[in-house]
Amino acid sequence: MSERRSPRILIFDSGVGGLSVAACVHKKLPQASIVYLADNAAFPYGGQPESVVVERCCTLIAKALEQYPCDAIVVACNTASTIALPHLRAITGVPVVGVVPAVKPAAAQTLNQRIGLLATPATVRRPYLDELIREFAPGCQVERVGHPGLVQWAEDLVRGLAVPQDELDNAVAGLRDAEVDTVVLGCTHYPLLLDSLRQSLPEVKFWVDSGDAIARRVAWLLAQVDKLDDALECNGAPNTPVLAALFSGGAPGGVASYMASLGLQPKTVTGSWPVQL
Ligand code: DGL
Repeated sequence: MSERRSPRILIFDSGVGGLSVAACVHKKLPQASIVYLADNAAFPYGGQPESVVVERCCTLIAKALEQYPCDAIVVACNTASTIALPHLRAITGVPVVGVVPAVKPAAAQTLNQRIGLLATPATVRRPYLDELIREFAPGCQVERVGHPGLVQWAEDLVRGLAVPQDELDNAVAGLRDAEVDTVVLGCTHYPLLLDSLRQSLPEVKFWVDSGDAIARRVAWLLAQVDKLDDALECNGAPNTPVLAALFSGGAPGGVASYMASLGLQPKTVTGSWPVQL
């Protein structure tokens, strides 16, 4: 009988935000091998036409799968998930998991029925957010903040720059005024800013993101396709390093040590990948 290799998961984002999701996947599935792919040459996706996001997502992911065949794909980007998932599913048989803002768990946790939703300007504008709120948080007041600065501050943090705390305080002032007790981090970059966000909004009791739910979904999917031994899913199993961290633009300076601080030790970091795109 041939020996089964550990499952391999491709995690995609427009930048470093997907690392917050990769950290959750790695914690849940420590023996799975992760390939991290960031289209940071086109960052931020929120500023791109939809056709460009679809084209770049599909092209880059297809190229990554050629070089690194994977058992699951995680689109760890809200913007790309709302636009590109059907197109991606049409070009590959590999199961694809997307991300949506965690409105449902936030509605289950809030004690005062006031929820803050922090996302990119592109995500807060999308009609699917109205549907999510109507379906999962009908009795709640949901205060949305779509700020352009936060994703860049998360990118800068990975490069070693401090988060501008005063600007962040101003960016989230609407959530303070609305006296929310729960905040949905509706962009995968935002968990990277959690320490600074807690400083800005000390009265918030619950911070909710989608990372753990995505990790559970990936584990479930891999089990369905028989790629997951029970033994692979236990905490404390040997850590598999990130097989490759691929960036379509320049690899952010300091990214390897930042990844290591999240428990994601990359074997290789490659910028301008793939060179011919
Ligand atoms: N991490 C992406 C997201 O969750 C960043 C958004 C962007 O590139 O515009 O939406």
